[in-house]
This record gives sequence, C-alpha cells and structure tokens, in this order.
Amino acid sequence: MIKVEKPLNVLLNEPLNVLIIGSGGREHAICRKISHSPHLKQLFCLPGNPGTESIAINLDGSVSDFAKILSLVKEHKIDLTIVGPEAPLSQGIVDLFDEHQLPIIGPNQAAARLESSKVFAKEFCTRFNLPTAAYQTFSSFDEAVLYIEKSEKEEHVVKVDGLAAGKGVYVCQSKVAALDALKEIFLEGKFGDSGSQVIIEELLTGQELSFFALSDGKTAIPLEVAQDYKRLLDGQKGPNTGGMGSYAPVEWVSDDFKKKMFDSIVVPTISGMNDLGTPFKGILFMGLMIEGENIQVLEYNVRFGDPETQAILELLESDLLEVFWAQSQGSLDSLPALKWKSGHSICVVLSSEGYPAGPRKGDDINGLEKFDGKKDLYTLHAGTGRNSEGNIVTNGGRVVNICAYHSESLDSVRNKVYKAIPEVVWKGMYYRRDIGL
Ligand code: AMP
Ligand code: GLY
Repeated sequence: MIKVEKPLNVLLNEPLNVLIIGSGGREHAICRKISHSPHLKQLFCLPGNPGTESIAINLDGSVSDFAKILSLVKEHKIDLTIVGPEAPLSQGIVDLFDEHQLPIIGPNQAAARLESSKVFAKEFCTRFNLPTAAYQTFSSFDEAVLYIEKSEKEEHVVKVDGLAAGKGVYVCQSKVAALDALKEIFLEGKFGDSGSQVIIEELLTGQELSFFALSDGKTAIPLEVAQDYKRLLDGQKGPNTGGMGSYAPVEWVSDDFKKKMFDSIVVPTISGMNDLGTPFKGILFMGLMIEGENIQVLEYNVRFGDPETQAILELLESDLLEVFWAQSQGSLDSLPALKWKSGHSICVVLSSEGYPAGPRKGDDINGLEKFDGKKDLYTLHAGTGRNSEGNIVTNGGRVVNICAYHSESLDSVRNKVYKAIPEVVWKGMYYRRDIGL
C-alpha cells in the first residue's frame, strides 16, 4: 500500500468514505463495526445485501469487475477500500489499487498466494520452518495413486492446490476414500485448473482454532481467537461447509498461548513473506491445529473468516476504521494496543434447504424485524435477496446469521442466541444446535 501525502492524524480529522467489497455475513459484520466509527463519512458496500442496505449505500457490481470498482471508487471519492472475499485478492485487485495510489486493505496477488496456492503455502512453511503436516505434491494421477497404494497409513488428507470455495479438501479415513478423491480431482476434473496439482498430507488430530492478525508488511498485531464449526451437522458430522457458527473468545486459549501462536506462527510468516520480496499487508487468517502445546498450520487465508469475523468484531472495542486506516498507511506501529470487551460472543448460521450440495433460493424469510432494537442480539444478512415484490428471500446457502453478546459466560450467550433463533422462519431453514458447546 502506498503512503498518501497527508499524515494519518490529518486525514482522520476529515471523515472518510469507505467501501467494503463483498456480500456475506462477514461483510455485513465489517460494515456494522465501521458504521459505529466517528471517522466515517459515508459507507458503501459492493454489492452488499439487503442487510448492509440499512447502514451503507449498496453499489451494483461484481467483486471481480475491477474496472467498474475503480471507476466507482473515483466517482464516490472513496478514501479506503476493504476487501472481504479471497477471489478479488487472488485476481490482483490490490495491485491495481496500488498502481492508482488508492488505499486498500488486503494483500497483493503475490502475497495472496498464501491462500490461492496450497503448494505455495506448504513450500513456504517448509522453507521458513513453520510447523505443518508432512506432505507431498503431485501433478500426475498415476503418481498420486501409487503414493497412496504404497503408504503405510490408511488416513490421508488430499487437497487441491488452487481456490475451491472451501470444497477442495478431502479428509480421508481410508485409502479407498483418498483414491476416490484423486479420481474426482484428476479424472473428472471437478476443480478445473485448481486441481492440476494436489497435496497429499498426513492427517492431524487435535482442536482447530482460527487465529487472525493484521499486518501492514512491517508490524503485525493479533486479533481475538475464534472457533468455527465447519461441518453441517451437530457433533462435527456431515459434509464440510463454509462454517455453520462461531464463538469468541476460545476459553481454553490463555494469553500466554496466544503469544506463543503469535511468536511461532505470525512473526515468521510476516518475516518470511518479506524475505521473499512479497510483504504481506492485510488480514492473515491461520487455521491451526492444536494438540497440547503443539501448534500446526493447517492453512493460511488472506482475509477475514466467515463466520469467525462476526464473533470477533463484536468483541472489538477499538475503532476498526482507525485500525484499518493506520494499516493502510503502514502505521500499525503507531496504533495504541487494541481494546477488547470482556464477555462472550456467538454467531449461529441459519442455512437454506439443500445447503451445501444445492441450496434452494427464493423462500420467503419471516421474523427478521423481531430483532429490531434488541440489546446485544441482532441479525446479519449473508445469502439474502429481494424478490420481485421487494420481500426478503433466501438467495444462497448460508442465509442469515443470528449473533449475540453476553458479558458473563459462554453459556449465557448461547442461551440468549438459541432462545431467539425460532423468531426467524423460512421453509427448510436449518441450523446447528451445538455452536459454543
Ligand atoms: P484447509 O482448507 O486446508 O483448512 O482444510 C479444511 C479443513 O480440513 C480444515 O479446517 C480441517 O478441518 C481439515 N484439515 C485440513 N488439513 C488437515 C490435516 N492435515 N489433518 C486433519 N484435518 C485437516
Ligand atoms: N470459516 C472459514 C473461512 O472463512 O474460510
């Protein structure tokens, strides 16, 4: 990101026009947080959803149409753009904004490879001694099959190299399952180019954590830790999803352990990216596997997680816009320590009939208004849309998030959110009953 002429404090005396790119619950949560900032002039969201509409101006456009985004940024005199999803980052939106000297939060295309290429991420971990599952890379079906057949273990994890909307990882309990995965990837071409290389790695056990840090390329600061519930069904069963719920903070993660995760994973990652000549500026999201004191990197993402962001931002007391502005100016080192609320937050995802295989769209959603004016209990929109009469309907897999905060215990916030969920109704609505358990 390029330094603008005016220093941080001068520009922050002038309110900012801010654009959030994306349309999910994560983007609604970012909009909500930024909307509370005294430094905000006007908030825009592209394309946004019927929820962001009440706090931002939704701009028409696709997150991949960079020419249009650039012209809208100029037309609306946007001072700062924040990118939600990974696709525009891996396609180079930040490189384009840098060329035009426009402040933006996110890594450039080269640094986004931490997420857009699992082969890059694994080689990076090996080169800079970051702990990760032992692995091999394959670009030939026959060689991958031979490897599985000769392996002494039954269990393997098969991953496609490129972006696959969270569907490119097969956790295989048997060799047969791994061979089936390889057939889908190589012979059926299920992932197109994303599957031209695969990683086969050892299966790790333990507890998963989502750990986030912000970096301006020089300074990194940790955010709160959250847990995501990736499987569709209670008790971690059923197919993988984008995430069915989250809560923060994670009670068994002590401050000392957070520091250990920061020192052993974030610091070497930021310095490794600098060594490669591709400094990482943006939101670093590490999927970690924890077993006892042992920390392993499962994956890197280069953006906020969804639904982890919903739970984490609820706890942030500091002004998120001030934080992002400092980050965009390369001044994270001048920022006071972030302030967090004590207490607990939770986000439960309500999904549509058929998710994740084939979500049904167009079902009328009722009851959202019952959350108006409630304290520490609110809805965020994700896959919602409007029908021809203007009513809010399902328009995706993960449709609505119900979020809550409670100053006391995780149990209290769980009770609060689950008591409220039945207020929202649509045909085929589904949610997990064990978020936060
Ligand atoms: P990834 O996109 O690499 O994080 O993988 C998606 C999910 O697959 C992770 O959140 C884990 O639940 C699981 N997973 C990935 N790699 C492994 C591994 N080596 N061992 C066990 N589970 C894994
Ligand atoms: N919830 C996981 C992700 O955003 O990738």
